[in-house]
Amino acid sequence: MLIHHVPLEDELGDVIEKALRHSGLTPDEAALRSGVDAAKIRDAIDYRYDLSGLELGRLAAVLKLNEVGLCALAQDRYPLPEIGVLPFCVWPLRMPHGIGVANAYIVAESGGSSGLLFDVGPNLEALVEIWPRSIKSIEAVFLTHVEGEHTGGLCDVVERFGVPAAFVPANAVAPCGSPLGEGEAKTVGPFEITVFGTPGHSAAHNCYLVRLKTAREAGALLVSGDLIFAGSAGGGYFCHKQLQVHLRRVLDAVPPSTVIAPGHGPLSTAENELKFNPFVV
Ligand SMILES: [Fe+2]
Repeated sequence: MLIHHVPLEDELGDVIEKALRHSGLTPDEAALRSGVDAAKIRDAIDYRYDLSGLELGRLAAVLKLNEVGLCALAQDRYPLPEIGVLPFCVWPLRMPHGIGVANAYIVAESGGSSGLLFDVGPNLEALVEIWPRSIKSIEAVFLTHVEGEHTGGLCDVVERFGVPAAFVPANAVAPCGSPLGEGEAKTVGPFEITVFGTPGHSAAHNCYLVRLKTAREAGALLVSGDLIFAGSAGGGYFCHKQLQVHLRRVLDAVPPSTVIAPGHGPLSTAENELKFNPFVV
């Protein structure tokens, strides 16, 4: 697996803003409950940080956030784990979209030229530009959720690469693909893919646990879409409560060493996010 330095998707200000939105509190209400100056909370949302450890602790309590992770973010020292060896290859494909970057992933057997694609990025051109040379064909595409930056090129990709199967979350409104929902599993080539239905960021959202059929215990990859990021979570645009429930449920369900491959930002592990993710309490 090639690992480059990848910045976190969210800073402290993003996490506080999401947590406020999720809790339904205004900065003034959070200030009243935490005893932290409202101006300091607003400044933090604008990426100007002047919060002491004590103030962060009070905010974490009011916003129901993991204090250790929140303080680490505030110091720009959110811990990222060593990514262990998986029994297969993973290519994180990072594609610029607007002011951000969206991730897709190819998974293939070591030395293999055929793989699986998880999400497709904003369009075919962006994907082709960073396509790994050794991958000649795709056996199946799996979408975490339908959103331009992750799935914009779905039909073009299916056509261009002659992909025989495309899967989308059950109840998703997608231009092509077959629905997959909670608890379903697919076997494609040497891989077994287990589905977690994880609505929250959007009404239809899946995470995919990827393992080698013949070496299920040797390591797993969780393609987490916009449910779990290293050090944060996706916006709860459909329902934050559900997002938070699924975030915890999925992290508890997978082996601790599972590599988390999110829709934005760097890789992490289930163990690391259970310990430090601000939204895991
Ligand atoms: Fe996204």
